[in-house]
Amino acid sequence: MFDLNLFDVKLETSTLGRNFIYLEEIDSTNSFILDKKNKIELDGSIVLAEKQTKGRGRRDRVWYSEKGLNLNFSILITDKKLLSKNLNFLNLGLSLVISNSIDNLYSVQSNVKWPNDVLIKGKKTAGILLESSSKGSSIEKLIIGIGINVNQTSFMGEFNLSPTSLKLATKKNIEREKLLAEILNNLEDIINRIRVNPKSILEDWINKCDSIGKRIDVNQDGKILTGIFEELDENGFLLLRVKDKLTKIYFGNTSLG
Ligand code: BTN
Repeated sequence: MFDLNLFDVKLETSTLGRNFIYLEEIDSTNSFILDKKNKIELDGSIVLAEKQTKGRGRRDRVWYSEKGLNLNFSILITDKKLLSKNLNFLNLGLSLVISNSIDNLYSVQSNVKWPNDVLIKGKKTAGILLESSSKGSSIEKLIIGIGINVNQTSFMGEFNLSPTSLKLATKKNIEREKLLAEILNNLEDIINRIRVNPKSILEDWINKCDSIGKRIDVNQDGKILTGIFEELDENGFLLLRVKDKLTKIYFGNTSLG
């Protein structure tokens, strides 16, 4: 059971998580925020569920997570300026914050994988699903769905990338409340940094990515491109060297080639 008091004591944010909705079971925390009936409207609101019956991953994949062991939550962002100008940087900032928070709390060395996964020793520890609703041509709401494998120790099913958890990596039981508060405290800081100087996070992200300079496969809805992950461009897109040509990658799933 997630201890809301313990979480609250450790939360130091002014906006993120101040409206906190805790649910025992729901189809998907992202869907819960997207559903207008639920009237989740305040910027920085968080919905956390102990169990999702239809947890969703990127590219229509299913996100499985055992009840009560992990962190499955969604964050609502409504700040128009952040959404219109800095979505890419926010996306990179999210994996960076999760990876840094894990490393600082548990003395492990996690990495980020483009576009927004967190890995420990090449295995997936956390994934992020961004969904939005628009009004006209502008994004009105962004829902950031985050799944972190925390205390789960066995994983069933087929995965395109093997999963691991913090408990498996550290051999210790992890306090979910402390981890979530740390992530939100750091996320609020990085969002403020992105507002002032978005490009400043690119170098930090690159330093946390261990596939730069390596051969990778980029899967774009079944079409595979193979090349060297040269660098990120100034907007956070992936630059892939295929033979002698640099190709800009806007989306896709990456894996070491
Ligand atoms: C991925 O790596 O494919 C993204 C996984 C995102 C899972 C989280 S769990 C909380 C939120 N609700 C969902 O239905 N999905 C995201």
